[in-house]
Amino acid sequence: MQNDILKILVTEKEIEETTERIAAEIDRDYAGKSEHLVLLGILKGSVPFLAELMKKIKSNPEIELMKVSSYGKGTRSSGSVKIILDWQRENIEECDIIVVEDIIDSGRTLSYLCEYLKQKGAKSVRTCTLLDKPSRREVEFEPDYCGIQVPDEFVVGFGLDYDEMYRALPYIGVLKPEVYTK
Ligand code: IMP
Ligand code: MG
Repeated sequence: MQNDILKILVTEKEIEETTERIAAEIDRDYAGKSEHLVLLGILKGSVPFLAELMKKIKSNPEIELMKVSSYGKGTRSSGSVKIILDWQRENIEECDIIVVEDIIDSGRTLSYLCEYLKQKGAKSVRTCTLLDKPSRREVEFEPDYCGIQVPDEFVVGFGLDYDEMYRALPYIGVLKPEVYTK
């Protein structure tokens, strides 16, 4: 698996430092100010980031998960967002939600989800992403909490996959081009 990686883009240490910084920003904004702070992780890519982030946040967050799909097979986005596993809560109107994502690419997934959660009656909705590829935006979208900006390259590891592979790598890397063309 490691042989398929061309170069490491974000090391384990950088991921750790970034997560610490974001957790501190979230604590600064929410400590003592929210009855129900909910980290809403988007399956499956956000799982490692969510797990690290929740341990570092001191303002006692609650955890929820949703599953959406925006990507088809490979490295191309399908352009449409589909909810596969929905959020189920009675008290959504009491919840300050922070949607937790692995990466923002076109911006479609998060802009769709923010609208969806507001329509469902959430008290507030913010977004948090480990990685951001601003050069790829198709819809205008700025995350509230942003980890590391990456260039327009397809990245894998720490939750991010290529056809369901490489999610378990502890760092974020770029795949060798021949892996796509196999
Ligand atoms: P968006 O809706 O185009 O912003 O896409 C966001 C989703 O696309 C992410 O949650 C990822 O699942 C996927 N994605 C975008 N870029 C990459 C990448 O470089 N590697 C792996 N998955 C990616
Ligand atoms: Mg994803």
